[in-house]
Amino acid sequence: MRRRHFLAGAAALPLAACSLGRGHAAAEPAAAVPLGQVRRLVASRIDPLGGRCAYRTEGAAGVFHPQRLEARSGERVELELVNQLPQPTAFHWHGLLVPEAADGAGFAPLLPGESRRVSFTVRNRAGLYWLHPHAHGFTAEQAYAGLALPLRVRDAADDALAATLQLGAANQPVLMLSDLRVRGGLVQPYAPTATDCSLGWLGNRIRVNGATAPQFACAPGWLRLQVLNASNARGLLLALGDGAGLRRFQLIGSDGGLLAAPVATDRVFLHPAERVDLLVAIAPAESLELKSLAFDARVQVEGHAPVRPHAGRGDWPTLAAAELCVASDVARTRDALPDGAAMPIARFVAAPRADPRLPPLPARLSSLTDAPTWAETQAWPLRRTRLDWAEGEGFVIDGARFDLAEAGWRIPRGSRELWEVRASPIGMPHPMHLHGAGFRVLRRQGTQGPARALALHGSGRLASDLGVKDTVTVWPGETVWLATDFSLPAEREFAGAQRYLFHCHNLEHEDAMMMRLVTLT
Ligand code: C2O
Ligand code: CU
Ligand code: CU
Repeated sequence: MRRRHFLAGAAALPLAACSLGRGHAAAEPAAAVPLGQVRRLVASRIDPLGGRCAYRTEGAAGVFHPQRLEARSGERVELELVNQLPQPTAFHWHGLLVPEAADGAGFAPLLPGESRRVSFTVRNRAGLYWLHPHAHGFTAEQAYAGLALPLRVRDAADDALAATLQLGAANQPVLMLSDLRVRGGLVQPYAPTATDCSLGWLGNRIRVNGATAPQFACAPGWLRLQVLNASNARGLLLALGDGAGLRRFQLIGSDGGLLAAPVATDRVFLHPAERVDLLVAIAPAESLELKSLAFDARVQVEGHAPVRPHAGRGDWPTLAAAELCVASDVARTRDALPDGAAMPIARFVAAPRADPRLPPLPARLSSLTDAPTWAETQAWPLRRTRLDWAEGEGFVIDGARFDLAEAGWRIPRGSRELWEVRASPIGMPHPMHLHGAGFRVLRRQGTQGPARALALHGSGRLASDLGVKDTVTVWPGETVWLATDFSLPAEREFAGAQRYLFHCHNLEHEDAMMMRLVTLT
């Protein structure tokens, strides 16, 4: 490790200065690290004063702070998870179908200093998934502190598409967007007031893979963007500006990989934890700006949730020595922009090369089958659930906050269910996420405001509802129907009851236990 550090030269120095000191290997920044080569995955602090943290990967090729992980569909992953934080954490593979023992859903968090071996097979289709903490009550603080890594999964169909479209590495970046509260160039430590804990912690800058307002150089031709919204609470309405107005683009994928066919649009919602895969044509020397458009987030909440720091917190320090969920403090929230504010994100500039011939976009992107029809799902068991704002209680599912000991929903493995998720009109958008199974969005009803204006067909669905989803945003007053499929692989590691979760991915809502246990029997 010493030699590696020496050879790495200046690039390693700034990070070495923030690492934990003697006995710890210095990590080098890296764009991407193959997950299969990681032997130890460490949640660590890199700046204890500012409360910043990072995932460090250790393996034969070196010690890195990567911007993302890469894996192939079908690949076997075996690694040791290490917690070097001063509080409990869990390593959750968002969107991957893995057994409970590897899901890291917070049932058995790693305490400070603990480590654990996990192994799993990457069974999902190619797409953008991600790693983030999931220790109940600590998720929001740790994710905001920098613990989040996109995981790009590739497969043969994805390789073929990239070849057809002649995408070089610079023309298919992965973008992890995080909403941070910045003042004087410094990321403000996580210190939510009671209001932040009710509505979600909002910032004022979108950082892209950790950088503010980055500019990416690319080649003229097709530009593919795989985008993850890793923000605690901010919804985004993504668009591409070309100076004159908005540029139309093709939506080619969502949470669980490629769509069957491209869908042309000029804006798409991306709420926390959702992913989109976009394709846009960029001309020689052209500059396109990726941004979030202003929209009415329809936040309507009366009164406050109680001032109630998480019960598990009493025993553990916060990452940056601040109190959480304490009563209002305007000084703390003055920098936050409201949900739905217009925000710049990044710029893409194409080289001034001779006009390339744009390869035609294939009419068929993948072998994804159609979602089940409405008629077909009428024969399935129906599960109704309600998202409410309860004065003095906060946001709840079916009137109750999650409790580790709750019975929750017991579902026989292999069943398919029609889920009807209804949100009360008093509230705000909730990005609802399911572990252990992808689903298809069938229908929206009662939608008002910007989501209604963007509905594609009679079904009320949005472009971002298409394809295989693991997170779906439910707007105030809406009812959303999902086709779920709880088939589990036959492998031994899935034997016995498997516990998963259904929860809101606004991380402050998640930490306030807007969550339900889902046990596959
Ligand atoms: Cu991305 Cu249960 O989480
Ligand atoms: Cu998840
Ligand atoms: Cu929520």
